[in-house]
Amino acid sequence: MNNQTIIARIPRAFAPLLTEHWRIKFYYGGRGGGKSYAFADSLLIKGRMQKLVIACLREVQDSIKDSVYRLLCDRIAFYQLNDYQIRETKIENKITGTQFIFKGLRDQDIQKIKSLEGVDIAWIEEGQSISKKSWDILSPTIRKDGSEIWISMNREEENDPLWILLAAAPDERTLVRRVNYDDNPFCPEELKLQAEKCRKEAPDDYMHIWLGQPLVQGAAKLIAPQMVRRAFEAKISSTDSPLIIGLDIARFGDDRTVFCFRRGRWCLKFETLNKQDIVSIANYCQGIIADYAPARIFLDAGGVGGGVYDILASRGFRDIIRAVNFGAKAILEERYANRRAEMWNNAAVWLNQELPVQLPPDEDLLNELCSVNKKYDARGRLLLESKEDVKKRLGRSPDKADAFVLTFAEPVYDLGKTKTFGRGHVVIEDMFAEVGESKW
Ligand SMILES: Nc1ncnc2c1ncn2[C@@H]1O[C@H](COP(=O)(O)OP(=O)(O)OP(=O)(O)O)[C@@H](O)[C@H]1O
Ligand SMILES: [Mg+2]
Repeated sequence: MNNQTIIARIPRAFAPLLTEHWRIKFYYGGRGGGKSYAFADSLLIKGRMQKLVIACLREVQDSIKDSVYRLLCDRIAFYQLNDYQIRETKIENKITGTQFIFKGLRDQDIQKIKSLEGVDIAWIEEGQSISKKSWDILSPTIRKDGSEIWISMNREEENDPLWILLAAAPDERTLVRRVNYDDNPFCPEELKLQAEKCRKEAPDDYMHIWLGQPLVQGAAKLIAPQMVRRAFEAKISSTDSPLIIGLDIARFGDDRTVFCFRRGRWCLKFETLNKQDIVSIANYCQGIIADYAPARIFLDAGGVGGGVYDILASRGFRDIIRAVNFGAKAILEERYANRRAEMWNNAAVWLNQELPVQLPPDEDLLNELCSVNKKYDARGRLLLESKEDVKKRLGRSPDKADAFVLTFAEPVYDLGKTKTFGRGHVVIEDMFAEVGESKW
């Protein structure tokens, strides 16, 4: 079989595999895009034209059966490429001397991987499973002049390491192409029918499996509705945890100013205010301080909130009020992309803990709390989807939920009161209960 016949069967999107030189050729997409076939066929052709060392790599390869060895054998048989000789652990071209070798990266230490230094083309199949560690070892090892690294993958998550390292912001030596089943003229009818069925019945799955989009992580939502409903059932009748107030201040248009009252594991109530000028909001807040003597008020300092803070600070409430900026650096900077993600996650933890927990039953609150999708940034830190996107979906601003999460800006400890347990004397069980209590 001559090469032209094989080339004629490679979908157009894959032409650069044969005709262009790039340090990295990064192909990604959904099921049935033709990636594996096109990579195999292109490499077989290249190996017939000149002597090459081609390494077929994946993260884990317990046996050669896990590799693309089988696919290459099938393609060799299909095209009757008698110049290729199939051996137990490698494939060789009798005429050019090209060799295909097969390796799993996870078990390669620096010594073993040295054998890859003469490689002309490395094909990384299932690129979504490659760890950053494997990439960091591999990338400098493929060092021969003119060598190329070909990557095929179906994206798994938003922060698949190779996606972040290579494709999210490709450099000038990297080709990034998305190919899906509808780019593959050889996609079998059966696969197309399956794709169509999936598109109708499970659109989210369709986007992931067939269009190559990453899974929205952890079933997308930060807070599950059943956890909020659980908190709607009254379980707590009293608490002596300090009162913390979250204050989400109206910005533009029809947003409301919302106060959220929380003591420990009991979120007591919300108060909303439709006034928008900073003096009225500050006055109202001062009234709340007088009536309830909260240990702390965390207020949203973005927008007009900064003005409310200044007024209250100038009136002597600096000890009680704290300005919080949703976009600022998180306290646990290595885990959260910003304060907003950190506070929302603290609130989610509070809701998900097994200890009794209580929220005022309020469907608006439920919708708002469950409206926010999780995302992760390039460093794998929690980053929520933008407030604009949440607003679009919800049709309004989630200001009750924001007031509520503000109460989780920082833990507030009540250091002023001495605790007595039981009837004025220490009861062991109560002490354990106290130790087991969360910081929220
Ligand atoms: N050149 C080709 N000639 C004949 N059939 C092809 C060719 N390329 C692809 N196909 C058909 O399309 C199907 C999907 O191709 P392939 O397995 O390469 O897709 P993929 O992008 O690797 O996706 P995944 O492995 O996730 O399903 C193959 O099973 C095969 O039936
Ligand atoms: Mg494949």
